[in-house]
Amino acid sequence: MLRFWLILLSLTVLTACDQAPSNTPNSNESKAPTPIKIKFSHVVAETTPKGVGANQFKQKVAERLGGKVVVEVYPNSQLYDDDKVMEALLLGDVQMAAPSLAKFGKYTKQLQVFDLPFLFTDVKAAERFQTGPTGKSLLSSMEKYGYLGLAYWHNGMKQLSANKPLRQPSDLKGLKFRIQHSEVLQHQFEILGASPQKLTFAEVYNALQTGVVDGAENPWSNAYSKKFHEVQTHFTETNHGILDYFVVTNAQFWRNLPADIRTELEQILQEVTEEVNTLAIDLDNEHRQKIVEFGQQTGKTQVLTLTSEEIAQWRQAMQPVWQKFETEIGKDIIDAALAANQLPTTP
Ligand code: LMR
Repeated sequence: MLRFWLILLSLTVLTACDQAPSNTPNSNESKAPTPIKIKFSHVVAETTPKGVGANQFKQKVAERLGGKVVVEVYPNSQLYDDDKVMEALLLGDVQMAAPSLAKFGKYTKQLQVFDLPFLFTDVKAAERFQTGPTGKSLLSSMEKYGYLGLAYWHNGMKQLSANKPLRQPSDLKGLKFRIQHSEVLQHQFEILGASPQKLTFAEVYNALQTGVVDGAENPWSNAYSKKFHEVQTHFTETNHGILDYFVVTNAQFWRNLPADIRTELEQILQEVTEEVNTLAIDLDNEHRQKIVEFGQQTGKTQVLTLTSEEIAQWRQAMQPVWQKFETEIGKDIIDAALAANQLPTTP
């Protein structure tokens, strides 16, 4: 019996030692809690709207959640391209990314609405759609795949470029165009008689330089920051589609964050989103101007502008894309997007 009590006593002491806080300098108790790490991976330069936004997010988190959360930003496809980053999000290798909306069609057909040519008149119209009920509901449209959309960020309207002037839709016939991984964009080039080639963003400069493709479609800041103007003789200001982003995370990771931290991160993200979306419009103008000036100084490239009659021809030539994708996307979604082109009436 005495033996039993001795064993019980020693077990109790051992358990108590395990649980008691220790004052030794090396104990876990004396260490600050390990901060939550958020790796934010993206594919563009730090001077573009997304690049600036990711860095602003990092900075604000350091200021307001320093010690609790640390954000690491990996720009320029340093870690992953946009396909791989989606896998990495699920595996927990990164926690945030912001691929262009064109990259999500394989998860949510409705998101293909953003690729329809000549749908939004400008980024402000896209923003009215994104912040309206339909746009907001699309943020959670990928939850069954484990992703959560946190915000929409602008880049800008896309422009066509090639090594010849593209004045009318028939000028694209027989040319190879780099596209993002999007069925809608593939069809857009096919109906113009061009040959679309799906390449990652990191591959575009070399593909243009070596003639793997003849042309591309990009917003001004992507073209300028990656020097596409040095390997394309002509840009045509078509504004034929939008390139915006879905800031996305792993849904489980986000929901498992401590509530106070998640709330603060969402507040920061909202502030950054407003700043990015304002800045994107300025950067778009600035980078367009830089390409114009480069062309004037070197004679190596030229920016063509189109008359409204010429734009109407492009719009008409690309219109069949809408019919092909209307059922998949949903007419209600397209109508909501179209309605966002109207400025809200003031009472
Ligand atoms: C592209 O692949 O052209 C874009 O998605 C790149 C980007 O993130 O702006």
